[in-house]
Amino acid sequence: MAQKIIIDTDPGVDDAMAIHLAFADPRLEVVGLTSVFGNVWVEQATRNALYLAEMAQYDCDVAAGASKPLHIVPNDPSHFVHGDEGFGDLPAQSPKKPADTRPAHIYLSETIRAHSGDIILCPVGPLTNIAKLLEYDPEIVAHVQKVVIMGGSGYAPGNVTPFAEANIWNDPHAADIVFAANWTVEMIGLDVTTKVECSPEDFADLAKAAPDIGGFIKESADFYIRFYESVIGRKVCLMHDPSAIIAITDPDFFTYESVPVSVIVEGKEIGRTMPMPKSDYPDLNRPDVRIATGVNAKAVREAYLSLSAQMDNAAKARKSNQA
Ligand code: BDR
Ligand code: CA
Repeated sequence: MAQKIIIDTDPGVDDAMAIHLAFADPRLEVVGLTSVFGNVWVEQATRNALYLAEMAQYDCDVAAGASKPLHIVPNDPSHFVHGDEGFGDLPAQSPKKPADTRPAHIYLSETIRAHSGDIILCPVGPLTNIAKLLEYDPEIVAHVQKVVIMGGSGYAPGNVTPFAEANIWNDPHAADIVFAANWTVEMIGLDVTTKVECSPEDFADLAKAAPDIGGFIKESADFYIRFYESVIGRKVCLMHDPSAIIAITDPDFFTYESVPVSVIVEGKEIGRTMPMPKSDYPDLNRPDVRIATGVNAKAVREAYLSLSAQMDNAAKARKSNQA
């Protein structure tokens, strides 16, 4: 039976890659997408999530989430990384289906409880919806299989400041609540996601194998690759959010260290995720987080490309089943 997941997301170019990868992987059943501000405004994130599901003929729920962080003044969306509408230079689309009527945290509570123990929660944006879920329904921790997060960093430098990764920086208080809760959290952060790269040639191949969805990924990736070229000086992009999906399906591609994590919520290091070993902080009362510290980047890249090559075929199969 396929593993049920819910992806909490701010789509976003690499979010779109992750979501289409999950849609194409027969080992996964995407029960829902919940939207959050981050790469784009939340209204854009919800619309983009609906559009991604529609493009892939994927019948999953989409629920709209938080428009701003819990306590800090919101940062501007990262349009310079993901484009004005979230998918590089591509224009806004108007999906037909409306979002679920429930706000994301209530949708998450009800859906996770309805499939108790079966759902892996995969947040790949700021953690605001997940913190709101914990505040609304603290007992939910017993019903979630695990939480696999793209965000943070154990030991690598940040990507928005020398200390902070973007998703955590956008709502550090929410992230701290999520890391303090008594559930299994895996952090797929910059220690590993900065090692997984794809090139324009990879996306050109993808567009050949899957002209509809792969073509869309290729076009939106052009902008994202230009951003990375300006930062790291090479024509590639980093595969942050897809790496979190692959950590669910292929955990053996990663190595982990278990240690509690706290988040710095103010000052110049705001958004920094701090490993807090029990030997150094015996009084700290929070569970271990499984931080991915090592990755077989070649295997992750190849898994991404080979599974994504099936995106159009998977969508066509769903269309003919629905007919
Ligand atoms: C994370 O921030 C966003 O820009 C990406 O979508 C990813 O989730 C990387 O730091
Ligand atoms: Ca994201």
